[in-house]
Amino acid sequence: MSNIQHPKSNMGDNLMEKIVSLCKRRGFVFPGSEIYGGLANAWDYGPYGVLLKNNIKAAWWQKFVLDRDDMVGLDAALLMNTKVYEASGHLKEFSDPLVECKACHERFRADQIDITAPCPACRKGQLTEAKQFNLMLKTFLGPVESPESVVYFRPETAQGIFVNFKNLTDTMRLKLPFGVGQIGKAFRNEITPGNFIFRTREFEQMEVEYFFAPDDDWKNIFENWQKIMHSWIDDLGLNAEQIHEVDVEDGQRAHYSQKTIDFEYDFPFGRKELFGLAYRTNFDLKNHNLNYTTDDGQKIIPHCIEPSLGVDRSMLALLCSAYTEEELENDTRIVLKLPIKLAPIKVAIFPLLKNKPPLVELAKNIFHDLKKSFVCEFDDNGNVGKRYRRQDEIGTPFCITIDFDSLEKQTVTVRERDTMKQEIIEIEKLKDYLTKKLQ
Ligand code: GAP
Repeated sequence: MSNIQHPKSNMGDNLMEKIVSLCKRRGFVFPGSEIYGGLANAWDYGPYGVLLKNNIKAAWWQKFVLDRDDMVGLDAALLMNTKVYEASGHLKEFSDPLVECKACHERFRADQIDITAPCPACRKGQLTEAKQFNLMLKTFLGPVESPESVVYFRPETAQGIFVNFKNLTDTMRLKLPFGVGQIGKAFRNEITPGNFIFRTREFEQMEVEYFFAPDDDWKNIFENWQKIMHSWIDDLGLNAEQIHEVDVEDGQRAHYSQKTIDFEYDFPFGRKELFGLAYRTNFDLKNHNLNYTTDDGQKIIPHCIEPSLGVDRSMLALLCSAYTEEELENDTRIVLKLPIKLAPIKVAIFPLLKNKPPLVELAKNIFHDLKKSFVCEFDDNGNVGKRYRRQDEIGTPFCITIDFDSLEKQTVTVRERDTMKQEIIEIEKLKDYLTKKLQ
């Protein structure tokens, strides 16, 4: 059997189409509000999408919060008092430059196109002067739509951490340096959302705010977090050669940052920001009038380093890197070579034939037993070859077939996703075998 792998570069622009199609076909990501014609750039995560996203978030939480002695977690509200964003500078500063075509009225981010050329959409209209467009997503709280009832959805999870600084230090007796991790939704009224789940108006972030004394060596702390981000990129199984670290220039950084490194990834649609790491100085705590009392009673305003990661972008990079096509004898095999830890389904269990009750019963028993330890799926649809293909496409590391030997000899066939190698394993030893393999 030939087993030629198609290099990603040969898939070119098609790779995104293939990923979007696989996500829809296999229940990872559906277009939002689809039965009503959709809502531009809104996406719903299906059964495998939510498992994959939860695995990414759980792995992040483990590494960035639970495995460390100097971190605690938080889950703050999405809607916050408008005074938070007045103090944080978001209402004034959190904007992108917008231009509009005078002919077709299409809008663009001025920093992403050549604004001296004709409109990129209709190719003839002149573009207006750039003006700043605030990205905060507005709504009204309560029954009256008045200026007083305006509130904003958070544009970053970070502000929930800053405004809880006193609650956190008081209740948890935290000593500098320490960090707070949070995973949650953020909202931005993006001018040009797009590229599937890359840029949306509703998305999820995983953020750490790491606080330290003003006279600590911030560069050293920054470099430590940079290394942790490298290690996270490794955990996702991304190719380090496709990651590019860009020191963001003065004037290009967010209003609160004194230094930012963007971690860019070679997506099929170009090199784009995947994660960010910023030195926010004491900008936020100072503006919220918050401080910290040292052991000798001094009041100081801690400084802060922020690794900020998008969940949806992590998932997209993961899908782009895991998507593989292999030429078999009469077929092309599509496989998601996801890291085992992140795969949505760990083990699929197949009775060889669905109309043989003893086989099905044994397969169900094995399924219910393994399900207590791993995320499993039972599949008795179509021939075994088709079932393998389906599991390959969702990235399931192990498939187990229960056949007549299983009834006679108490053995099953275990097939491994990447090598397609098959092994006969005694049912009695199956759980131990999988536990070792899935570690
Ligand atoms: N608290 C800092 C902050 O929010 P950011 O660079 O604006 O910094 C951090 O965002 C990360 O959040 C990005 O690197 C990206 O992974 C994700 N992100 C930002 N905007 C996004 C959007 N519109 N859609 C999806 N993910 C987004």
